[in-house]
Amino acid sequence: MLYPEHVIEEVREKSDIVSIISEYTTLTKKGSSYTGLCPFHNEKSPSFSVSEEKQLYYCFGCGAGGNVITFVMQKENMTFVEALKYLAEREHIKLDKEYLSEEEMAKNHKRLQLLEILKESAKFFYFALRDESHKDVLEYLTERGLLMETIKQFGLGYSPSAYTSLYKYLSQKGYSDELLLESGLILKSQNQGMMYDRFAGRVIYPIFDASKKVIAFGGRVMDGSQPKYLNSPENILFNKSNTLYGLHIAKNTKSDYFILVEGYMDVIAMHQAGFDQTVASLGTAFTPLHAKILKRYTKQVVVLYDSDNAGKNATLRAIPILRGAGLKVKVLQLQGGKDPDEYLKQHTKEEVEDLIKQAPSDIWFKVKYIESGHDMTNPEERVKFFQETALMLSESGSSIEQSIYIDEICKEYNMDVEVFKAEMNQHYKKVSHSKAQIEEKMPNHVKNVLNNEVLFLATLYHYPQIGKRAAEHLTPNMFAGKLLQDLAGAVFEALKTGVDIDMNYFTAKYPDAVDQNIISHVIIFKDKRYEESLVLQKMVAENIKRINKEYLERSLKTTTDPNELQNLLFQKKELDKLYIDFING
Ligand code: UTP
Ligand code: MN
Repeated sequence: MLYPEHVIEEVREKSDIVSIISEYTTLTKKGSSYTGLCPFHNEKSPSFSVSEEKQLYYCFGCGAGGNVITFVMQKENMTFVEALKYLAEREHIKLDKEYLSEEEMAKNHKRLQLLEILKESAKFFYFALRDESHKDVLEYLTERGLLMETIKQFGLGYSPSAYTSLYKYLSQKGYSDELLLESGLILKSQNQGMMYDRFAGRVIYPIFDASKKVIAFGGRVMDGSQPKYLNSPENILFNKSNTLYGLHIAKNTKSDYFILVEGYMDVIAMHQAGFDQTVASLGTAFTPLHAKILKRYTKQVVVLYDSDNAGKNATLRAIPILRGAGLKVKVLQLQGGKDPDEYLKQHTKEEVEDLIKQAPSDIWFKVKYIESGHDMTNPEERVKFFQETALMLSESGSSIEQSIYIDEICKEYNMDVEVFKAEMNQHYKKVSHSKAQIEEKMPNHVKNVLNNEVLFLATLYHYPQIGKRAAEHLTPNMFAGKLLQDLAGAVFEALKTGVDIDMNYFTAKYPDAVDQNIISHVIIFKDKRYEESLVLQKMVAENIKRINKEYLERSLKTTTDPNELQNLLFQKKELDKLYIDFING
């Protein structure tokens, strides 16, 4: 633990969860809790609930839940410590550095040093680009259509081709070789151990984090040599899967949608043309984390990748990821296999804006993509087209969306709506039988929460009458994992004595966001289905039996004591009786 429990407790207690969450969604008081639209998923009617008393939130729609710290972690994309600091600052609570473990302090110190090195290097590259001796580099950029203003805005630079210029510059500033190697800017040659500049001879594209700090670089060759671009290696500052090039500017856009492109030059050219909402993932695949970050700033993303095959495939991969984060998706393909940078050389901002307006939704893009693979004048090929399209549609979107697309597609391709629906229905049957596939589509936090034990504990807690009886047939160690065992202990205790669960204990002991999600689920989620007492009784009885059985089976596998074994076997035999006893009260 980085901070002592009392510090975390103080921050959590002083931070008013209702007012903090109110900054993200409107909450209205309803009984003992507050409700509103969930800030974690798109919804039209409120299923998000905040308990002021328990200082927890929970969404009955998507399963997101936790305490004020995890809320900030998830909404602001912060680590636990960052969120704690953020909240402490708001409440004017002083967090002493000494609370950090030595390891954390060393890491923080290193992070600061690396940031300083990157900042120094960015300046070094920036001035090198403006040096008379590197006129040709600046010419290369201006010939590619970049204005001086744009070059400045993106902090572009040049790493001189003499292999040790940056190394010498940074060494003179007193940075150790070890640190320079860690920065990723300097490499050590294998045979002679010489230190040299990774990006020597390349045009430099600094990569900024959202708070405008340089965290890495990209470097492009000026001739046709390979590799065309080099990027900084990942380290404690730089993680490709959560970095978006251009975000430090795009995050302030007034536009209500973002544009996702493939490359550095695409971002820069788009910004120069006036599309300040453009970002790119860094030559790597677009990840769910990227999508989650975008979701913090916008509701809709226009995917504008190269229109070659590679770009099309990358688009098909990005669509489900964007949708998975709850974003609306449109796809723009520029004619002639061009990337946006090249396209903008011959077209105006207004032309591109029009194209964006007319750009098809992700689903129409997929329909057209499927069509392009078939000769629609050939009857057999037409059959295949409809089959593939029906399959695709059965796997995409909500049922309302599907129904709209069914009509549109059938109209466009002269197909009978009922026939098309029948084809789709075949796929539903397959899909609905595959639980794994449904789970695949669920966000992870929901998957973690929708675990039998968690639902069961929540039910016992919220239906205390039956919960009390159930607790007599269960022990905390029958539950899987430390957290559930602890929670079960607290729930059973609360049922027995009426003393409520000690939230401070659980916040401090399980600061992890997933754990907090589980905790808030147990404490807030009351499943209304069980208001029907027969349903409740059956569910509780079955779960008692199942949990006992699984526990006994686990124990049977591990025990070596013959007496114990005898005892376990006896208990196992008694299980069915227990079930009947319970049902009969
Ligand atoms: P592209 O090859 O499409 O380059 O790669 P580009 O962005 O159009 O660049 P210019 O116009 O030729 O200068 C797209 C992105 O893939 C990554 C870079 O992030 C690049 O912007 N990439 C590409 C690499 O990381 N390494 C490479 O060797 C090539
Ligand atoms: Mn390009």
